[in-house]
Amino acid sequence: MKALIICGSRKDGFTAEMCRSFSEGLRIHGISSEIFFPIDMHIHHCTGCGLCSGDAGCGIPDDMDLIFNAFGESGLVILATPIRFSGPSSAIKTVIDRFQPVWFGKAGHPHYAAALLVGGSPDPCFANTISIFKAFSATAGMKWLGHLEVQDADVKKVSDVSLPSFDYGNDLGSLLTGNRI
Ligand SMILES: Cc1cc2nc3c(=O)[nH]c(=O)nc-3n(C[C@H](O)[C@H](O)[C@H](O)COP(=O)(O)O)c2cc1C
Repeated sequence: MKALIICGSRKDGFTAEMCRSFSEGLRIHGISSEIFFPIDMHIHHCTGCGLCSGDAGCGIPDDMDLIFNAFGESGLVILATPIRFSGPSSAIKTVIDRFQPVWFGKAGHPHYAAALLVGGSPDPCFANTISIFKAFSATAGMKWLGHLEVQDADVKKVSDVSLPSFDYGNDLGSLLTGNRI
């Protein structure tokens, strides 16, 4: 099985470290990961043009094709985001909106979805983001496996999120492969 990890933040922050450590946890179960950073890619907003209701898929020619391809080839998708104004980052929400072809049943999809979330405050509102991610997961026909949340990042070091993220990757890897490591 392969995992697609979509990181809704920059490469040197908390979210990226969660993605990298999580992928290491999966790797010990033989699950390889590809991490995408939409912030560094050319991905336009969904305009709601409706072209994806036809057989040609999304009509916007940009880097989203790379994510569409990985989505179709992966067994697990991980949605990773910092909390921004009590919701997901605009980077990951833009990617989710571009998955409108799955609404029309026009795209292959992973069997499973899960999330990595980090907020700066002691009590971030994770619920809004989980609700959006679960709605996407259900729309695509994926089974929701759960999420890891880290709070208080504003008083933590990036390295503090490594171990819990690795452990979560190990846990999901065990669940998906049946191997307890
Ligand atoms: C625009 C913006 C909005 C934010 N809103 C929230 C928020 O609503 N709740 C919260 O707990 N943290 C909030 N934060 C803090 C981030 O969630 C926190 O710094 C997080 O660790 C950033 O992850 P990163 O290093 O991967 O970017 C916000 C940060 C930014 C830049």
